[in-house]
Amino acid sequence: MPLNDLLQNRRSTRRFRPDAPIDRAELNALISQANRAPSSNNAQPWRIMVLTDPVLRQRLLPEAYGQEQIITASAVLVLLGDRTAYREPNLRRIHQQEFADGCFDANVRDFLIQAAVQFYQPFDETNTQRSLALDCGLWAMAFMLAAEAAGWQTVPMTGYRRDGLHRVLNLSERYLDVMLIALGKGAERGHRTLRQDAAAVSAWDGLPE
Ligand SMILES: Cc1cc2nc3c(=O)[nH]c(=O)nc-3n(C[C@H](O)[C@H](O)[C@H](O)COP(=O)(O)O)c2cc1C
Repeated sequence: MPLNDLLQNRRSTRRFRPDAPIDRAELNALISQANRAPSSNNAQPWRIMVLTDPVLRQRLLPEAYGQEQIITASAVLVLLGDRTAYREPNLRRIHQQEFADGCFDANVRDFLIQAAVQFYQPFDETNTQRSLALDCGLWAMAFMLAAEAAGWQTVPMTGYRRDGLHRVLNLSERYLDVMLIALGKGAERGHRTLRQDAAAVSAWDGLPE
């Protein structure tokens, strides 16, 4: 489906058919496609917990204010930002792999590693969270479009108690919870929504109103 049709047709789906499992290979393919999303310094800090276990999802349900898609979706993805992705070992590993694959020469590799390490060095927690949310947010949109193109529906969700999520999933300080994405086969299409047009949100050579 052309990109414009995907953008026009995607709707947040909150009612899923509970009898539509997704197999690992198919979900892995969607995750790999979404991994093409850009990220700062190509750090790729997104980490994904795929929840299918009904018992675990039942425990998560009250923390997500009882939103039924936690139970009925084929899978619930917990999108996490990995703070360690911005540290030298990960940055070095990524750019070394690109060098080894012929993406660029050793000079570019060394420059990119040094630039990335220096870029994140002064980051405090606020900067880190902002950057993780940005990088992972781009992944989320890529994932939802990839899913839509493959005939799956999704809803992004931040309607949950963060402390409850961390407790139920036993998440360490290493991870920032960014959002949940419920994925499945829609039992009911999400309601239509409207968007403002370009003129309402943009301005040339100045701030929009
Ligand atoms: C960051 C974010 C958090 C959201 N959290 C929830 C949520 O917790 N529950 C829900 O039903 N929808 C949630 N949504 C979906 C929005 O309500 C939806 O995207 C918006 O109303 C536009 O509708 P559409 O996605 O169908 O175009 C969230 C969307 C975003 C981007």
